[in-house]
Amino acid sequence: MKMTRSEELRRLVEAIGPGNIWRPICDDDGNMLVEGAGHDAESLPEAPPEHIDFSGKSVVDLGCNVGTFVCRAARLGARKAAGIDIDSNLVRCAEILAVQEGVDNVEFMVCDFNSPPEEKFDVAMMFDIIGNTTIGNGQMHTFIKIMENWAAKELIISLKPVCKARKHFHKTPQEFCELFPTENMDGECFYPVREAVDFLGGRGWELKTDLPEGYETCGMKMLLHFVRS
Ligand SMILES: C[S@@+](CC[C@H](N)C(=O)[O-])C[C@H]1O[C@@H](n2cnc3c(N)ncnc32)[C@H](O)[C@@H]1O
Repeated sequence: MKMTRSEELRRLVEAIGPGNIWRPICDDDGNMLVEGAGHDAESLPEAPPEHIDFSGKSVVDLGCNVGTFVCRAARLGARKAAGIDIDSNLVRCAEILAVQEGVDNVEFMVCDFNSPPEEKFDVAMMFDIIGNTTIGNGQMHTFIKIMENWAAKELIISLKPVCKARKHFHKTPQEFCELFPTENMDGECFYPVREAVDFLGGRGWELKTDLPEGYETCGMKMLLHFVRS
């Protein structure tokens, strides 16, 4: 007998493990199967700021997990929204959830985001991926360049405003700076948002997001929107 959609979701959640599922998943009857390990505030809000306008654009979410923000971009007017993830079980979950939500101009692919597409999308998004581990390993620019390989016009990234070398990278400031020479280090503190603005600014991208006063005291990731100038 064919599995129901809810049964398939339940099996997938078990196979993936709740710690690897970043956003909430409910079955067809609205029962919560998993709450998701990610913070809602560190992603694309349901009502994004005005300068983020998906209308008529092609959008890709890199490392889309269960596809939450692919569906959101589609509902916000994207002409075509795609999600890619390296984990086939997550991609299957994303497909089922899109059907459950009745969103149809989306597609999901099992794909490594290190393999650039033949044709770029208008907008590339990456949420909750450039964090303490990637930054602490000196890979922040590598991940930003991956996004550039996918996007012709716009980038939407979530990034922490400040990291502390010992606490977040398990390195001394000197060890971190040897791995990742940067001007955006002050004592223990490294400032990823400043780094992204400098790095992308030098490559022809303009920040559209307002940086409120005191934003660098916030421990949460914030949403940054860059447009090719
Ligand atoms: C921390 S989770 C973030 C999920 C999602 N962006 C969100 O905020 O809901 C990282 C995701 O990236 C995926 N991922 C990791 N490496 C990848 C790669 N090389 N190519 C594509 N997806 C990858 C993982 O499978 C996982 O779903």
